[in-house]
Amino acid sequence: MVEGYTYEFYIKAAGYIKERLLKDGRNVPTLAVVLGTGCALFAERLKNRISIPYGDIPGFPTTTNPSHKGELVVGRIGGAKGNDIICMNGRMHFYEGYSMEELNIPVHVLHVLGVKTLVLTNAAGSCNPRMKPGDAVVIKDHIKLYGGSPMRGPNVPELGPRFFSVKDIYTKSLRVKALELASKAGLRVHEGIYMFFPGPQFETASEIRAAQILGADIVGMSTVTEALTAAHCGMKLFGLALVTNMATGVDEYDNPAKEASCDIEEVDEVDEVDVVAAKASASFSSYLEAVVTSFIEAKGE
Ligand code: HPA
Repeated sequence: MVEGYTYEFYIKAAGYIKERLLKDGRNVPTLAVVLGTGCALFAERLKNRISIPYGDIPGFPTTTNPSHKGELVVGRIGGAKGNDIICMNGRMHFYEGYSMEELNIPVHVLHVLGVKTLVLTNAAGSCNPRMKPGDAVVIKDHIKLYGGSPMRGPNVPELGPRFFSVKDIYTKSLRVKALELASKAGLRVHEGIYMFFPGPQFETASEIRAAQILGADIVGMSTVTEALTAAHCGMKLFGLALVTNMATGVDEYDNPAKEASCDIEEVDEVDEVDVVAAKASASFSSYLEAVVTSFIEAKGE
């Protein structure tokens, strides 16, 4: 628990959001989507939407990353009869200076608000040669060897138990549904393991080699603190990554001849992230819309 962030804090923050929604004649959504790098287009697809800046919500952290907007967007998905969902348009990261513990705050606020299903999206580097820039990856599980936990420190029992299981943390029924929709998606969809790195530096080639040996398919600097918080408060959870680059050194490992060639231009994976995210954003958002709509139709099952 972050000092001062007692249960009363969460009630106050969630109460503020609820009041704004009720004043606008809306119900409180039961599904929330956290939008990662390159996923902001998804929020623009929502109908009849309103924005609540993070800065308006008492005690809510704000984003410092210029490509992350910092607002809750509430709007309808899935046609005229669809439901409202809530999007975090922009997230907070460990590399911005937030502690792991502070990163539990947004998800616990959504939980107290009444959200039952959480969808996490992100941009990721691939350490699996089968998973290429522009592909989507349904997250099956994650690896976080880096120390710390969003639930470190005094527990707030009203939010969840002191000790909690993370077995099947990414809800199987949601993964199955998303993979069923893969053949109709405008991009290739895989299932894989996400490994957390704290950033903001990208990984060394040796770290990526280690990630491959450990069984990771993709790597990134977000998602796991939110996933662990969702597990703590008993939410259903789904994660979808957009591969924006091959992780450091992966191309060279795949093709030793390339490593030896001095004619090959060095590709900077850091610059590649925004270029690929922008290119793949439309097809990623439309697949995400189909997936989230299917979750809502199944009432979050
Ligand atoms: N490493 C870490 N985070 C990332 C990457 C990467 O290669 N690509 C997008 N986010």
